[in-house]
Amino acid sequence: MRSLTLMPVLATVLSLGTAKPTPTKPEPPSKRASLPTVTMSGNAFWQGKDRFYIRGIDYQPGGSSAMADPLADPNVCKRDIAEFKKLGVNTVRVYITDNSANHDECMNELADAGIYAIIDANNPLYSLNRLDPGPSYNTLYLQSVFATIDAFIKYDNTLAFFSGNEVINDNVNSTLAAPYVKAVTRDMRQYIKSRNYRSVPVGYSAADVAQNRMQLAHYMNCGTDDERSDFFAFNDYSWCNTNFHESGWDQKVKNFTGYGIAIFLSEYGCITNGRDFGEVKALMSSDMTPVYSGGLMYEYALEDNGYGIVKIDGDKVEEQPEFKKFASALSANPAPTGDGGFTSTTKAVACPTKDANWLVDTTLLPAIPENAKKFMTDGAGTGPGLKGSGSQNAADSGTSAGDAQPGSGAASGSSSSSSENAAAPAGRVALAGIDKAPFVITGLVMLLTLTGTLLL
Ligand SMILES: *[C@@H]1O[C@H](CO)[C@@H](O)[C@H](O)[C@H]1NC(C)=O
Ligand SMILES: *[C@@H]1O[C@H](CO)[C@@H](O)[C@H](O)[C@H]1NC(C)=O
Repeated sequence: MRSLTLMPVLATVLSLGTAKPTPTKPEPPSKRASLPTVTMSGNAFWQGKDRFYIRGIDYQPGGSSAMADPLADPNVCKRDIAEFKKLGVNTVRVYITDNSANHDECMNELADAGIYAIIDANNPLYSLNRLDPGPSYNTLYLQSVFATIDAFIKYDNTLAFFSGNEVINDNVNSTLAAPYVKAVTRDMRQYIKSRNYRSVPVGYSAADVAQNRMQLAHYMNCGTDDERSDFFAFNDYSWCNTNFHESGWDQKVKNFTGYGIAIFLSEYGCITNGRDFGEVKALMSSDMTPVYSGGLMYEYALEDNGYGIVKIDGDKVEEQPEFKKFASALSANPAPTGDGGFTSTTKAVACPTKDANWLVDTTLLPAIPENAKKFMTDGAGTGPGLKGSGSQNAADSGTSAGDAQPGSGAASGSSSSSSENAAAPAGRVALAGIDKAPFVITGLVMLLTLTGTLLL
């Protein structure tokens, strides 16, 4: 997110007295919508037999400081879904969600509108600390991340999860947080497999930083299969009403050609020089489709940073001039038919080596905190929501005890990851639709487990 200011940590203390036994089964979503699940194969996304391109918008009314989940409030999401339909977007990214809330109504409304959701698994309270990542990679944090997966993975229109957003930035010291981001990505993928969930892809959303973009991209796709991401995404603000060459996007195609997994822009939409959203034409052109799978325009709601295309006042939405321009760019540049020149195989790349811009000097990742291993079999239990004092200082819930063996994040569940089934384009739709979750634990054990976690 642009100009993201961390909100002051709330003094509110999570009330343990009200912790209820977690249901032994997640509530099934009401299944009135029938949007097909999006799957991954090769370096692309698929909707059935057709290549799927993200033609989306970033959606967080109020910005990060409001700390509000727009998908938990039907009045909010319905107000905005009406606008999404006018725009013609097929995906929204939501940065902050409440993993203790119900999302049935908003997710179904989105599905009815043909819209998928990409969900960030962290939020300002429950997140890694980029300059002191070790203590913040803890059990309380992972419980919140996994509870967010639990909250959204049951919906057919959940497209992907982000394992982090802009944790690594232009401070070179923040590159030392990369092993922790990668560990969280590994843990999320292992959790999805261990819980026998649909194989919703997991990847990281990187900041627009030229000095470490390629190293970070390579880092997230190197190592053993369990350590690699399903996709890579980055935020890009270089277009600024220019063109494919002047913006340098041609170089970003060249540099990422043969990268080995899917890529898309998790944010785009520079506001320097005004904007006509020429990015959409470029993203949908054969210049880019062999390597990129679309992107998300930043952003829907107008905040102080000036990127939004609607002004919101209560239940009233006032479309800004850019609203029509973005809608026109989408309608004038439909998703191309055919496979877009995708690559049918995936592959790992070499890990980057340490240099002045990239301080990571090992390929080993921190092991999952011992206390968090139980979530793989027991589930995460009730999420903390957007309450409590957050997880960054909750090292006493249990942190990593050392390096992981490469391969330690593999799981025996039946979900298949993109990297394991590369040769069969779009062949996993049927499998992906199955959601068999053997929740064997009793409510009592879960209560003890949950309470234990929170009390530690
Ligand atoms: C990075 O860390 C080093 C060593 O701790 C410190 O000297 C330096 O000031 C830090 N740089 C920034 C930009 O924070
Ligand atoms: C492309 O890669 C080269 C070599 O690694 C690098 O110097 C350049 O900055 C990259 N360009 C972009 C736009 O990422």
